[in-house]
Amino acid sequence: MKLEDKVALVTGAGSGIGRAIALRFAEEGARVVVNDLTRERAEKTVGELPDGRGRAMAADVSDSAQVRAMFEAVERAYGQLDILVNNAGIGSSRPGEWSEVRQRADARVMEAVSGQGITTHLDVTMNMTDEVWHRMIAVHLNGTFYCTREALRLMSRENRGAIVNLSSIAAWGLEAVPHYSAAKGGILAFTRAVAREVASRNIRVNAICPGYIDTPMTEAMSPLMKKSLLARTPMARMADPSEVAATALFLASDESSFFTGQWLSPNGGLFIG
Ligand SMILES: NC(=O)c1ccc[n+]([C@@H]2O[C@H](COP(=O)([O-])OP(=O)(O)OC[C@H]3O[C@@H](n4cnc5c(N)ncnc54)[C@H](O)[C@@H]3O)[C@@H](O)[C@H]2O)c1
Repeated sequence: MKLEDKVALVTGAGSGIGRAIALRFAEEGARVVVNDLTRERAEKTVGELPDGRGRAMAADVSDSAQVRAMFEAVERAYGQLDILVNNAGIGSSRPGEWSEVRQRADARVMEAVSGQGITTHLDVTMNMTDEVWHRMIAVHLNGTFYCTREALRLMSRENRGAIVNLSSIAAWGLEAVPHYSAAKGGILAFTRAVAREVASRNIRVNAICPGYIDTPMTEAMSPLMKKSLLARTPMARMADPSEVAATALFLASDESSFFTGQWLSPNGGLFIG
């Protein structure tokens, strides 16, 4: 029981990696606040947790007023917060965004393996609207800031806590998703800056930069894109969300007591920094 007596809040825990983190934390004794956009999504995960270990709270992390209200509810319910996992995220800002890129990305894979040079251009950045850019930054980067700000206010009372931010290998730049890459790079820089700032309060801040994980987010990839990805991954598979949850458990627990401002990358060898 690595998280006995701890209260943890996991954003976007109605699906994928966040759900797996909530399950793992609860198994380790934590009481888990399961956040997602809708109560229905959050309740689904709570229903999978051991009795009394979970509580659903709906909030859009990109809305600072909703985030503040959620943390006030956490304070009323538990009077403390020990762990925050900033996990909520989106792979695209609007329906259909990916389907347009997928075709061109597939064509490029075929051109690359043919060895005759790449003549299909992705042209994502020059065609991106303000709305698509802003939504991506709002959910990932603003959401991480809003939740961290509220969490620090609670954690500073006890001068103790751990924050885990979901960045990505996209922080190093992933083609076709400049907005996602910028958001994830921003999260990594934010992690490092805040880690230095709050270390004197005994609050640790670390990031996870996963490679490709088998969740609804990666379902948007075409079969050809997946094949090409696996061919470039030494372990030749995607990860199960539970493998990221194990990394989150390490960074959230006292096992990582001398880690702050760091990133860990469960990625099967795809990116070796
Ligand atoms: N799946 C991957 O390969 C991968 C790789 C690297 C990083 N990540 C990151 O891991 C995190 C989880 O991704 P996932 O693959 O589990 O995705 P997912 O789509 O399975 O789950 C994301 C969850 O976040 C919720 N969410 C979205 N916007 C929200 C908002 N504004 N407020 C609250 N909740 C919101 C969604 O409703 C959903 O339940 C994301 O930050 C993602 O960028 C994923």
